[in-house]
Amino acid sequence: MSNRTFTMIKPDATSKGYTGAILDQIIKAGFSVKAMKWIKLSEEQAGLFYNIHRERPFFGELVTFMSSGPIVAAILEKDNAVADFRTLIGATNPAQAAEGTIRKNFASSIGENAVHGSDSNENATLEGDFFFSKLEHF
Ligand code: CMP
Repeated sequence: MSNRTFTMIKPDATSKGYTGAILDQIIKAGFSVKAMKWIKLSEEQAGLFYNIHRERPFFGELVTFMSSGPIVAAILEKDNAVADFRTLIGATNPAQAAEGTIRKNFASSIGENAVHGSDSNENATLEGDFFFSKLEHF
């Protein structure tokens, strides 16, 4: 589905109380929420989600961080959702993120970067299906 993407609000942002402000920015940018869940991942679940990065040097750090506190997982809908959402969140490293982007506004480092956004239509579907059953998105 090319009009859908998947996001997580990460533990750094939920623990700092940024969840509401980030959701507000997402909705004001024209995305509608098709599924949403407040959940804490185990290390095993975080490792499975980020399996593609298993050989990267930051994998252990990423899994520890992503299982350190609650996240908000959501499926979002908008025309051109994947590309538009990546523009809205900004570069992976917040130091390189454009002014006004979610990562510029709320992230502190490349690891603790406030939000995730799918990088392709295919991954948007895979990642949404990781968190939500067919009964849970509309
Ligand atoms: P995300 O878009 O969720 O996808 C993979 C994540 O790995 C990325 O955001 C970052 O949080 C994390 N990541 C990428 N590069 C690094 C790095 N060099 N050091 C630590 N974490 C990283």
